[in-house]
Amino acid sequence: MTNHIDGNKVADRIKAELHSCIETLEQNDVTPGLATVLMSDDGASETYVSMKQQACDDIGIEGFHIEIPADAPEKRLLQRIEELNADPTVHGILVQMPVPDHVDESAVLEQVDPLHDVDGFHPENVGRLTTGNPRFKPCTPHGVQKLLEAADVDTEGKNVVIVGRSNIVGKPMMNLLVQKAENGNATVTVCHSRTEDLAAKTRQADIVIAAAGVPELIDESMLSEEAVVIDVGVNRVDTDTEKGYELVGDVEFESAKKKAAAITPVPGGVGPLTISMLLHNTIKAAALQED
Ligand code: GUN
Repeated sequence: MTNHIDGNKVADRIKAELHSCIETLEQNDVTPGLATVLMSDDGASETYVSMKQQACDDIGIEGFHIEIPADAPEKRLLQRIEELNADPTVHGILVQMPVPDHVDESAVLEQVDPLHDVDGFHPENVGRLTTGNPRFKPCTPHGVQKLLEAADVDTEGKNVVIVGRSNIVGKPMMNLLVQKAENGNATVTVCHSRTEDLAAKTRQADIVIAAAGVPELIDESMLSEEAVVIDVGVNRVDTDTEKGYELVGDVEFESAKKKAAAITPVPGGVGPLTISMLLHNTIKAAALQED
């Protein structure tokens, strides 16, 4: 019996459900549109954005892709976002993170109109999530909730340890899981690089969510028997292969899978869900704007 949670399978089911939402919008002459903005030379970011665009194509969302040279002034990015905010064919805007060091990340996130903010990163949307009234749930943490649900893991009353405190994953994950809401009601601990004795914390967990961006940080010895392990990490590790690297999660998969009740692989775990939830948010943005 396998204890792997198959992210592709869960994502495909969600995409099939979304397809019928798109058909309903089409009946009202609305085609959801998503603009992705890339201001980076990073190969991984380029890959992520092209996967998001491909997913739009596959499902019937109109994709617009904008590239801004990584050395362009911040103003150019801010102006482009302003134009996208005003474009009636664009319902969702995603600026791939991270942006270059000379660009103020907060200024970029605040420039995206909150009703177009399919990442859920604008302070207004972060505030709404924190107070239990989310508009757009951030895609990766929302995808993790969907994976847990699909694996029949009830989070209510469970000890969840999140490893990583990023604004993209760790913090919104904490907010979603602690809410008095479906797939929430958990007792949440957020660990990070300054946490003392990380292993003692993760061993207390019914559910471990690894999102630190450190290859194979979590091994079998750090898990309790029957822990559920969700690996959000996607780390490129150099190898002698033709590609030059392989993808490794934040969890040492081979050892952890022997102990875990359920575990997500990398790739093929959380990644496909991030994309499905982005499509979900884009359709929601289109519906909100056409209301
Ligand atoms: N970089 C890594 N993950 C994400 C994400 O979910 N959204 C954006 N915009 N950038 C990212």
